[in-house]
Parts: sequence; structure tokens; C-alpha cells
Amino acid sequence: MSFSVWVRESVAGFPVTISFHALGMAFLVGIHFALDLRVLGLAPKLPVHLITKFYPLMWVSFVVALISGLMLLLAYPAKGLTNFVFYLKMILIASAFIVGKILTKKVVQQDAEITTKYKILALLSIGLWVSIIVAGRFLAYTYTILLTTDFY
Ligand code: HEM
Repeated sequence: MSFSVWVRESVAGFPVTISFHALGMAFLVGIHFALDLRVLGLAPKLPVHLITKFYPLMWVSFVVALISGLMLLLAYPAKGLTNFVFYLKMILIASAFIVGKILTKKVVQQDAEITTKYKILALLSIGLWVSIIVAGRFLAYTYTILLTTDFY
């Protein structure tokens, strides 16, 4: 049985993979939200640099989401690769990381004063991560091709 067929058709393959995807997603988004909410004024007494203590866990979570995401893609390659929403999700992920990087550099590493500009970036970050989750869920409903073998 090929790896792609195993992920798609075995009893454990898809449920286990999508569970890891959800777990990776939860920590990845949760840790970004912690910084965003702090920038927006929640827990103002929390030293902002302490949030970066969670960053190693955030990177592990990203790797888990990435590997499980690639496995989900491998299970139904035509389904994902022919769907515009999949590419939109990838662009949103890259954008969310860029916004997170800017916030970390300015607010944490350079200890810049938290002005309206950074609050807008924090709101943008939350909006991007929410859109990524919605786009991920919508992948299941927006595809036009499930398997290329459907053609034969
Ligand atoms: C990093 C690379 C990633 C890849 C290649 C990827 C790929 C995929 C694929 C192929 C699916 C299955 C879609 C379907 O049912 O047809 C999926 C589901 C999903 N992804 Fe991702 N993903 C990635 C990262 C993320 C991240 C970072 C998040 C959230 C922050 C996310 C959120 C979701 C959600 C919510 C689902 C739906 C799960 C469900 O149906 O219950 N993904 N992803």
C-alpha cells in the first residue's frame, strides 16, 4: 500500500494525521494570539519578552502542522492542488508569519513603545490566523476534483 493510499484509506491514517494537524495548529495559533493579545492591551503587566519563551514550542507546532498538512495533501493531491483556496491558505500562512516576525522584532526585541500601528498589526495577525483556520476547513467543501482516478 502506498503512503498516500495509507493516509487516505487506512483506519488510522487520516484521523491520526488530521488530529496532529489540529494540535499543531492549536499551539501555533495560540502562541501567536498570546503576543497579539498582549500587544492589544490584555495582561499589560506581563513582560512581553516572556512570550518568546513559548517560541520553541511554536516552531515545533509549525513543523507538526507542516508535516501533517503535507500528509493530508499527499492523501488527496489533486483535491488540494487544483483548489484556489489551498493556495490562498499558503499565502495567508506566509503573511501571518511575516506579521508575527515584524511584531516580535519591534515590540519584543527592540522593545518599541506599543503604538496604534502595532495594535493594528496585532489585529491583522489575529485576522490572518482566523482566516487560515477558516480556509483550512473550507478546503473540504470547495474542491472540484477529489481524485484524478475519478476520471477513469
Ligand atoms: C503549513 C502547511 C500546511 C499544509 C500543507 C496544510 C494542508 C492541509 C490539507 C491538505 C488539509 C485537508 C483539507 C481537506 O479536507 O481537503 C488541511 C486541513 C486543515 N488545515 Fe491545514 N495545512 C497547513 C497548515 C495549516 C495551518 C498552519 C493551519 C491553521 C492555523 C491549518 C488549518 C487547517 C484546518 C482548520 C483544516 C481542516 C481540518 C478539518 O477538516 O477538520 N493548516 N490542511
